[in-house]
Amino acid sequence: MELNLIRRLFYKKRKYYDDDFDWENYTADSYKRRITTDIEPQFATTSDDAAMTFDQATGVVSTGSKPLHPNHHLILEAIGQLQPASVHEVGCGAGDHVAHAKALFPDIAVSGGDRGATQLALAMERHPDLSNQLGLQDITMPFSKAWPKADLVYTQAVLMHIHTAVSHFVALSNIVRLANKYVLLMENVQCHNFVEEVLALRDGGHLDWDDVNLYRFEGSTGAGAILLSKTKLDLPELSSDAQMRNGVKPSARRLKRAREDSDRGAFGFPAPKG
Ligand SMILES: C[S@@+](CC[C@H](N)C(=O)[O-])C[C@H]1O[C@@H](n2cnc3c(N)ncnc32)[C@H](O)[C@@H]1O
Repeated sequence: MELNLIRRLFYKKRKYYDDDFDWENYTADSYKRRITTDIEPQFATTSDDAAMTFDQATGVVSTGSKPLHPNHHLILEAIGQLQPASVHEVGCGAGDHVAHAKALFPDIAVSGGDRGATQLALAMERHPDLSNQLGLQDITMPFSKAWPKADLVYTQAVLMHIHTAVSHFVALSNIVRLANKYVLLMENVQCHNFVEEVLALRDGGHLDWDDVNLYRFEGSTGAGAILLSKTKLDLPELSSDAQMRNGVKPSARRLKRAREDSDRGAFGFPAPKG
């Protein structure tokens, strides 16, 4: 009896994690400041887009005098090399990557979604010409037929911050369902075991594609990302997160948290043990 009471008290105190940020206040709290003080002084913005070119033969994007952030550079090279007819960014924030893609690949249809209204307001302010291509989208909600499907769907620094129960699994499953051909995850591989998570979702039947091939995609300026493809590609195959981490020791604290999120999931429809 006493033990039950203690259990109930502990249950109420039990700690679950939230996402890394409060997305409703994220732009005012830190995002806008980070773009203007960290990103813009060092890296190319859309005003430098005119100087960008993509070389089909080498698959390399070149910039003008200011470089792109290596992660952002990789996204554009992936688009150029995979040549999708349409591209959608989940968690597009201030919309800069969507705007770069639109400028560099004018024949490719681009769109972006974000769950934060103030992030989208910032995107419209920075890129008024994108207003018809951006929309509110919470990728951790049940799948919506209203969401734009695209040949390539990508995220940049989004899933890494999601730590609310099994939302990261819901997001991954939804992203694959949105994508006709490819999913690119440009995320910090210290924050989740993304390869393991995708494989668990795939093997449990939670991914919409018949075949899910995992590859490491390298940008020409040093960044690496996880590429999911419906068809086989001539790229290094991924079967573990260690391959993405390249020998860099991951943060034990972050991975513990990710593991605790993921442990709340049950995969597929396995027979009960015992
Ligand atoms: C670190 S910011 C990155 C924004 C943008 N991709 C960039 O590189 O500048 C993370 C973004 O993901 C968005 N986000 C977080 N959870 C989301 C969700 N469940 N669905 C869609 N967007 C989400 C946030 O609102 C925020 O704009």
